[in-house]
Amino acid sequence: MKASDIRNTFLKFFEERGHAIIPSAPVVPQHDPTVLFTTAGMHPLVPYLLGEPHPAGKRLADVQKCIRTSDIDEVGDATHLTFFEMLGNWSLGDYFKEDAIKWSWELLTSKDKGFGLDLSNMAVSCFVGDKDAPKDKEAAEVWRKLGVPEDRIFYYGKDDNWWGPAGETGPCGPDTEIFYWIGDGKPELKPGPAEDDQRWVEVWNNVFMQYEKTADGKYEPLAQKNVDTGLGLERLAVILQGKRNVYETDLFAPILDRIRKLSNVDAKVDNPELQRAEQIIADHLKAATFMIADGVRPSNTDQGYILRRLIRRAIRQAKHLKIEYPFSESVAETVVSEFKDSYPELEREAGTIREELLDEEKKFVKTLDRGLKELGQLSQAEKITGRELFYYFETYGLPLEVSLEELAAKSTTESIYKQLAPGRLREEFDAAQKAHQEKSRAGSKQKFAGGLADHSEKVVRQHTATHLLLAALRDVLGEHVKQRGSNITAERLRFDFSHPEKLTDEQRNQVEALVNEWIREDLPVTRREMPLKEAERIGAQMEFGHKYPDTVSVYFVGDPAEARSIEFCGGPHVERTGQIGKFTIKKQESVGAGVRRLKAVVE
Ligand code: ALA
Repeated sequence: MKASDIRNTFLKFFEERGHAIIPSAPVVPQHDPTVLFTTAGMHPLVPYLLGEPHPAGKRLADVQKCIRTSDIDEVGDATHLTFFEMLGNWSLGDYFKEDAIKWSWELLTSKDKGFGLDLSNMAVSCFVGDKDAPKDKEAAEVWRKLGVPEDRIFYYGKDDNWWGPAGETGPCGPDTEIFYWIGDGKPELKPGPAEDDQRWVEVWNNVFMQYEKTADGKYEPLAQKNVDTGLGLERLAVILQGKRNVYETDLFAPILDRIRKLSNVDAKVDNPELQRAEQIIADHLKAATFMIADGVRPSNTDQGYILRRLIRRAIRQAKHLKIEYPFSESVAETVVSEFKDSYPELEREAGTIREELLDEEKKFVKTLDRGLKELGQLSQAEKITGRELFYYFETYGLPLEVSLEELAAKSTTESIYKQLAPGRLREEFDAAQKAHQEKSRAGSKQKFAGGLADHSEKVVRQHTATHLLLAALRDVLGEHVKQRGSNITAERLRFDFSHPEKLTDEQRNQVEALVNEWIREDLPVTRREMPLKEAERIGAQMEFGHKYPDTVSVYFVGDPAEARSIEFCGGPHVERTGQIGKFTIKKQESVGAGVRRLKAVVE
């Protein structure tokens, strides 16, 4: 069964059981600043799990693009992936344990409607119970009724049989998991499927979301009982295609073929190190391709930093395989052609993906060579500090890991080698990075405060115009546009925002015209205080990478029900947009990769 058949079979099965099929959300969460990436199918649905009605109804199913970066160092082995697809079905206060379990079992085992898995290779697990929630006897009872023998029902604690919240707070609950034995011979039941045994594959997780974890660490019952499930597409493909690992399935094989064509080394020949290198390249560039398609651009902070790290790590591995630069766009091309049917945004953004990869690769190869040369001197030193390694990161873009690898390879002195166990160096590196970020953030705050400290009428008018400008940019260019910085003086406003390329004259005119139209409409400007969560839910724009307090002030331009602009902001603003005057864009510049700057005036 091909991966595309697996996706279709899953969606059709749930569609026939009253589920609306919804599209995958982007890999970058739209309203949750507590995490960088969408890590599970439930993530984009958090507001609905908390009780907000979903426009498509109470039963939903989808295939969600996910990114998990906590295991980045394990990537390249048989099971850890940065990017993966999660098949999921949801009940938002509708059906609960009985139907959810029954349907997963039917879909997995049915030969005509489902995947026809062999029952004798399966086992399940349920929550054992603790101080926060009781043992999940109901789930176990459903399994028994379906004919699962007692010795195939395992019980575990929160580490294994509990899911969520996706960030620090939010919906969560006990889960029940389904495992499949891919080892030789009969399944081994000791020590148990959730123990670290790669012959047991966890294929499907059914979460019964009945609690909300609050900021003070409590588990409060949710008014609405939900089901959130996650069936790993890659893992199921391994099983159904009879492969030993995910890189042999059709979700990766064509990408590896392309990498092998580019390299002069045949990694298929039994060389685990080279095999791992090509698997890392495949994983990282696949993830990078999807991230860029969803608007992430390489940078030194947040999502952009992770993207940069992935691309740069892939480039390092390409060195091992003697692949000639540039190569990443060619790998990405295969990713686009393999996945575009399920994810049309890949094709739409193909040009950007190519340019961003090419650009980053060129930059990195150049600085890498310089940085590595200089780093070579350190490899003979007596002591290395994380601060020094941060310097190499700041100056040459050498990620800590890359520096450590290089030093390990080059060092001839034993003392250096011992220091490379990354604990201390990582701490020092992080501290240096944090200090650096705080310094630059304080700097930009001061500038902003400086701009607004002069509450002259002109500044206030420009400030409201800045909100309209962001809204107009998002209307004209797309929702990937986010504020990256703003500075206002009595003479002009300056606005930085994320967008990969220069605005065309037409786009620039459209943006200007739209702002002026809203000014002519003489819209009211109003301020409201609300919980941060509520502000995020209604899509209030915030400055990228900023942390906000629990209660925030939000400005609306236009009637709040159909506002042109909603932004986190402390003010001050004009009362009506008619007071702004005529808005003119004066200048456009680029400030680093993926960030544009506009200067404009009001008269
Ligand atoms: N949210 C659950 C998981 O990711 C289904 O495993």
